[in-house]
Amino acid sequence: MNGATRTIDKPDVERAIVDPATYMDRAAYDAIFTGLRRDDPIRWIEPEGFRPFWLVTRSADIVDIERRATIFLNGPRAVLKPLAFEERLARQQRGHSEIIKSMNNMDGEAHRANRAVTSRDFLRPNIERMAAQLEPVAADFVQRLVDKAPTCDFAADVTMWYPLRVILTLLGVAPEHDARILALTQRIFLDPGDGADPAAAQADKMAAVEGFFDFFRPIVADRRANPRDDIASKVANARIDGEPMDEFETLSYFLTLATAGHDTTAASIAGGLLALIRNPGEMEKLRGDPGLLETAADEMIRWNAPVKHFFRTAAEDFEIGGKAIRAGDSVMLAFASACRDEDLFEDPFAFRVDRTPNRHLALGSGPHACLGQHLAKLEIRLFFRHLLDRIDHIELVGEPRSNPSSFISGIVSLPIRYRVRR
Ligand code: HEM
Repeated sequence: MNGATRTIDKPDVERAIVDPATYMDRAAYDAIFTGLRRDDPIRWIEPEGFRPFWLVTRSADIVDIERRATIFLNGPRAVLKPLAFEERLARQQRGHSEIIKSMNNMDGEAHRANRAVTSRDFLRPNIERMAAQLEPVAADFVQRLVDKAPTCDFAADVTMWYPLRVILTLLGVAPEHDARILALTQRIFLDPGDGADPAAAQADKMAAVEGFFDFFRPIVADRRANPRDDIASKVANARIDGEPMDEFETLSYFLTLATAGHDTTAASIAGGLLALIRNPGEMEKLRGDPGLLETAADEMIRWNAPVKHFFRTAAEDFEIGGKAIRAGDSVMLAFASACRDEDLFEDPFAFRVDRTPNRHLALGSGPHACLGQHLAKLEIRLFFRHLLDRIDHIELVGEPRSNPSSFISGIVSLPIRYRVRR
């Protein structure tokens, strides 16, 4: 029987939605979410140990909710956390419900002003101008692959590091610090999981945030003393309503930029290569016409949809899809489910490097749509252009593995064997 058509009873669905392991297994995920899109696309979920929420699984409903940004707010609930974590955070976090102050948890004018600090830099034409600066970074990471031939763990050895180096290049951090920044950000964003001790896990996250802030403090001071034409200088010298951002806001901004785009882009590249290996016809198409890298990058992001959800909180009563959402209710937007929406995509379960149109929601939509989306797509294009130039045969030599998380999940281990073109 096709897993996607299996009927799943209520407690099973509720447990599975909050179980990080569900997100490691695309077939299990699709079995649940395909059923939800078909039978109950806006469903009230009351999982044990979590605050209840509406789960929204179809693309059109998510777009509708995201564009009503004065009704469906980004704050205070951002992502799924066990109730015990939420309660500790509410008690202890500097008056914030998240451990840093990030634009994805802001609304209205505060969000607009915060995003405006860098939004011009991230527009497509401005990002494309960075291609010359980023080209050598992509070439260098493909060279690492070449140096490791004939086998490597493509995710752990290459893709986990490449997008991090890209964003740290733009933030003015030298390569010798990459391992330290990666370790800190992994501690900050690691999914606490069911069995974790909330107090210990939270203390460790806070310590990692402080470590990150300590690292960026001198960079902020330097960019204030010697501003240059770069993103780090923009953030360090930003003024909101004529006032400089305070230290917590400034360092949180650095943390947001440094972390939002690396495991997501890494998962899209590793999962993109896996999709090409499993669909040799698509690999051949792309090799035959590198002009397809543009649509292929989008398809890799749709296919992997590493950001599984974000929440919104209703500011007022609102009816959608026949469901009465009450002021104060939270709503989980299942972006990864929308990326397989049968109403939107022809053959949603097929990976096609030339898919057009491709109005997927892996990068969200509306006023909070991914700020770094053009950077992510440029990174993917540059990387695969070099990879296809230098490597002419790639095969799997072990089981690919994804990380368990209901928030950001994707391929973290991809053992491959490959041949370097001579
Ligand atoms: C393939 C890689 C990426 C994926 C899948 C991804 C996905 C997302 C998603 C789903 C959102 C929320 C959108 C919404 O609420 O509608 C988001 C927001 C955001 N992303 Fe990305 N992202 C990626 C790469 C990047 C990169 C490279 C950056 C670098 C700066 C970045 C920075 C941000 C920021 C700052 C936000 C918050 C925007 C706001 O709230 O206004 N992302 N991203």
